[in-house]
Amino acid sequence: MTWMRMTGLFVVGIAVIVVLNVLSQLLLPRNRSLPPVVFHWFPVIGSAVTYGIDPYKFFFDCREKYGDVFTFILFGRQVTVALGTKGSNLVFNGRLNQVSAEEAYTSLTTPVFGKEVVYDVPNAVLMEQKRFVKAGLSTANFRAYVPQIVDEVNEFVKKDSTFAPLQLGAKSVTVDIFKAMSEITILTASRTLQGKEVRDNLNKSFAGLYHDLDSGFTPINFVIPNLPLPNNFRRDRAQRQMSAFYQGIIKKRREADTEDAGHDMIRALMEQSYKDGRGITDIEIAHMMIALLMAGQHTSSATGSWALLRLGQRPEYIQELYEEQKRVYGEPNGTFRPLDYDIQKSQLPVMDAVIRETLRLHPPIHSIMRKVKSDIPVPAALSTPKTAKGKANESASFVIPKGHYVVAAPGVSQVDPCLWEDSDVFNPNRWMSSGKNSEQGDGEQEDYGWGMVSTGSGSPYLPFGAGRHRCIGEQFAYLQLGTIVSMFVRNFDWRLDGHGFPAPDYTSMVVLPKSPANLVFTLRS
Ligand code: HEM
Ligand SMILES: *[C@@H]1O[C@H](CO)[C@@H](O)[C@H](O)[C@H]1NC(C)=O
Ligand SMILES: *[C@@H]1O[C@H](CO)[C@@H](O)[C@H](O)[C@H]1NC(C)=O
Repeated sequence: MTWMRMTGLFVVGIAVIVVLNVLSQLLLPRNRSLPPVVFHWFPVIGSAVTYGIDPYKFFFDCREKYGDVFTFILFGRQVTVALGTKGSNLVFNGRLNQVSAEEAYTSLTTPVFGKEVVYDVPNAVLMEQKRFVKAGLSTANFRAYVPQIVDEVNEFVKKDSTFAPLQLGAKSVTVDIFKAMSEITILTASRTLQGKEVRDNLNKSFAGLYHDLDSGFTPINFVIPNLPLPNNFRRDRAQRQMSAFYQGIIKKRREADTEDAGHDMIRALMEQSYKDGRGITDIEIAHMMIALLMAGQHTSSATGSWALLRLGQRPEYIQELYEEQKRVYGEPNGTFRPLDYDIQKSQLPVMDAVIRETLRLHPPIHSIMRKVKSDIPVPAALSTPKTAKGKANESASFVIPKGHYVVAAPGVSQVDPCLWEDSDVFNPNRWMSSGKNSEQGDGEQEDYGWGMVSTGSGSPYLPFGAGRHRCIGEQFAYLQLGTIVSMFVRNFDWRLDGHGFPAPDYTSMVVLPKSPANLVFTLRS
């Protein structure tokens, strides 16, 4: 009886809240100096479900109704989306007193990376830390990495159980491609950037630690930080152990004081110091290494999977890549010369176009966030709906107020039918004819303390972001992906399996192919 009554009261209560929330949106006059708010049934939850399931569908639908700039409710937060090239510019090149990346990201990243790095420090310190990392991403190091990646891919195909049927003499094998790319990515990144000690520990304790740490790298921690969930406890324990593991490596290296000719990132970081003369600490190095591991792992394994899947869907491009390998590396006797960094970088236009086009359709990060620190004025040109259904006000202009979060979604411009011919078709050739011009934008550059970087202003293609927070891993990612895909092209032909091309899954840290996402690899004779 009482139970029934309480349930009844609860249902009525919810109904009243929903009705009041809907009526207030329909009847109360809108504050014209704020962005339009996306209609939602439930307060607090807001548009969390529609956004979470398919952010791109949500963004495109909202753009139709509200224009390039609109606010939606996400678990009680007010999140303002700024679409299009101008919207991206607002977010990426907002002034430091207007937008903060660290306040948007720290609850997610600091428990995973550890303290004193990236978003746990003021922006000026992050800019110096990016300079340190750039020192480790040198051409000399990259030259050393290509044969190491080749070796890892060869070993994986020869020995890992993923390819067991081939090892037993079969001619083809069906592979869960994201699972395989995740393993190849961590193997190749640790052999190269992370260094020998990490690579040697990969099939021991390190793999388990990585797995536990990764379980706490989830989007929930953006919105509701530090819930007392088992995965967050595992994350915290793994972070402490992994931090100790890296600090142990650094200490041993300092003690051994070897003049070893290693090309890894730890070695490069150990030589760095801040502009005020302060040396980099072991804890900072350890936590920067964890940050790099996490930043590179998800983005590269997702991109590699999408690239191989797109190729499996359009095998004529596998053939084109194979022809390119023969043209550039072929010997008269039909064998290939070893892959070489300088050639990979500049003489493989088809490979370059394939990766570029993959990142156009499948940028791993769909929402780039900042916390708004002071009101951001939005120019009138941005605040009018494109397909204005009578609501448009040509001179409309408003502010994104302090306290909101602001989101850029360059992935929307990257498939905008107004900007790209056959925008949803995977067509690497578009980069061969138009060259890289279509990503250039205004060509503006600026130095934030770690070298000249594109502001991305005016560019509809920004899979690596722009401005002070722009990715520093782009060259490494191209090197890693280009080498891995080259090895697959040399050794295999492949197709999608009977499940066809997988839909995207937006619920993880990066956009992943929904399983089953399988490819059937066949050995070249
Ligand atoms: C296909 C591969 C990758 C893609 C698409 C990608 C994408 C991005 C994007 C969009 C940002 C900007 C985030 C923001 O503005 O909030 C970023 C930043 C960054 N990425 Fe990458 N990334 C990739 C690979 C890597 C790799 C391999 C590394 C490390 C070796 C890396 C390290 C970083 C770092 C350190 C930042 C700077 C964060 C900041 O300044 O706030 N990324 N990346
Ligand atoms: C409308 O929003 C602006 C900007 O945040 C604010 O200053 C103003 O007080 C708001 N007006 C009303 C009537 O709420
Ligand atoms: C994996 O671990 C085993 C034993 O712990 C070791 O012999 C082997 O060399 C390791 N493999 C790699 C590729 O590091």
